[in-house]
Amino acid sequence: MKINVLTLFPDMFKPLETSLLGRALEDKKWDLNLVNFRDFTTDVHHHVDDTPYGGGAGMVLQIMPIKKALDSLENKGKVIITAPQGKTFDQAMAKRFSTEENLTFICGHYEGFDQRVYDLADEVVSIGDYVLTGGELPTMSMIDATVRLIPGILGNFASTEEESFADGLLEYPQYTRPAEFEGKKVPEVLMSGHHANIARWRLKEALKATLLHRPDLLENRAMTDEEKELLTEIKSELD
Ligand code: ADE
Repeated sequence: MKINVLTLFPDMFKPLETSLLGRALEDKKWDLNLVNFRDFTTDVHHHVDDTPYGGGAGMVLQIMPIKKALDSLENKGKVIITAPQGKTFDQAMAKRFSTEENLTFICGHYEGFDQRVYDLADEVVSIGDYVLTGGELPTMSMIDATVRLIPGILGNFASTEEESFADGLLEYPQYTRPAEFEGKKVPEVLMSGHHANIARWRLKEALKATLLHRPDLLENRAMTDEEKELLTEIKSELD
């Protein structure tokens, strides 16, 4: 997958060159093309913004440099604008993005885009109901969540299928040595070696965590008989 990012601050993307994604980048398992759209301005001062028509405070990002930067790309694929008014990013969206050959993110900064910039995008996406100073951090979050789902990126690190959200439930608790720490013991069942009991315990704990912290995730879930049974058990224990 090749990801293009149109940004005024390409240096902000350094974190993607570290850790797991950085190694995968070195191994050419994905590619990142940072494009500063200021390079596509034609005036001597390289302005990317101007005052708003109709007056008012602040500046507005102009369409021309962004359009030219987009047109310069070999293959833009799906074009995504990050903005607080967009559809909220979630794991399903990350999964969908991870199947694309090319993605292009357009990041604004401080100020809004000229409305016509939105016509250049296939999707407008937000990472949550809060306002950041720019689209760079949202873009990095989305790239991280997306790229790690590309087959072969995580290697031995995880089965993405077992973790939070992958199957619509929060994660069950995990433990490692020591078996007891300051009086807190690892649940007996995890040390029993009984695989079926362990699997049932993990499913129950995942259901319990979801019921307690994200009950909305259970609302439209097609439950198996085992899940229904465990949920009844959990509810009676909590009463
Ligand atoms: N740009 C500024 N705030 C944002 C948010 N919450 N999501 C996506 N892009 C943004």
